[in-house]
Amino acid sequence: MGTRFLPATKALAKEMLPIVDKPTIQFIVEEARKSGIEDIVVVDGKNKRSIEDHFDSNPELEDNLREKGKDAMLKLVEETTDINIYFIRQSHPRGLGDAVLTAKAFIGDEPFVVMLGDDLNDINSEGKPLTKELIDSYEQTGASTLAVMRVPHEETAKYGVINPSEEVKDGLYNVTNFVEKPAPEDAPSDLAIIGRYVFTPEIFGVLEETKPGKGGEIQLTDAINTLNKTQRVFCPRIQREAL
Ligand code: G1P
Repeated sequence: MGTRFLPATKALAKEMLPIVDKPTIQFIVEEARKSGIEDIVVVDGKNKRSIEDHFDSNPELEDNLREKGKDAMLKLVEETTDINIYFIRQSHPRGLGDAVLTAKAFIGDEPFVVMLGDDLNDINSEGKPLTKELIDSYEQTGASTLAVMRVPHEETAKYGVINPSEEVKDGLYNVTNFVEKPAPEDAPSDLAIIGRYVFTPEIFGVLEETKPGKGGEIQLTDAINTLNKTQRVFCPRIQREAL
């Protein structure tokens, strides 16, 4: 159903680019739902109205499919609209940290998940989405938890990278510090942050104090680095392929 929503303009949110037959944001929302998340807030910027339209209802199309008895298609369209999804506009592009902070009033004093719209990954061998794995891990530790993945050393400048202090158990790291997009010669490891995070609400207070970092933006990675000095932050290494 994805391409139906593609506006023929350059002002296209990259999250709306279709993978096979769906815009990527749809995969993200499905991952959230399969992970037991009931309320979703999308922080969007300028030119991202296509995302809101995608999750809006489309009564004409629904009537049409109903009349023609195209039940499978109808179910797909209804699933897209039948979600508690809210939109907040980030008025100035001040970075990922600022985007997360924008959602503070919505989230309040509770743990929450951050899913980046341009990172997709597959379910694991047990059929669990990555976000569900992180939530399960959070429920055991009560600590902020973010997924990392081994990347080729020459690609570290594309990611936040961790400096692991110890492997607490197989594939689960404690971290000395987090570095946003280090050049390969400065990278403390090849373990990259891949766009799925569970946070305790204390991250908001830290973000409020975080000064612009790499690229002049408020970096979520810098805030995590600060949080890690007062609360434990765990990094499980994912065993699956990113898509
Ligand atoms: C963001 C984060 C970075 C992370 C990456 C994952 O960077 O700042 O730490 O590794 O997402 O995709 P972006 O890709 O938005 O520049």
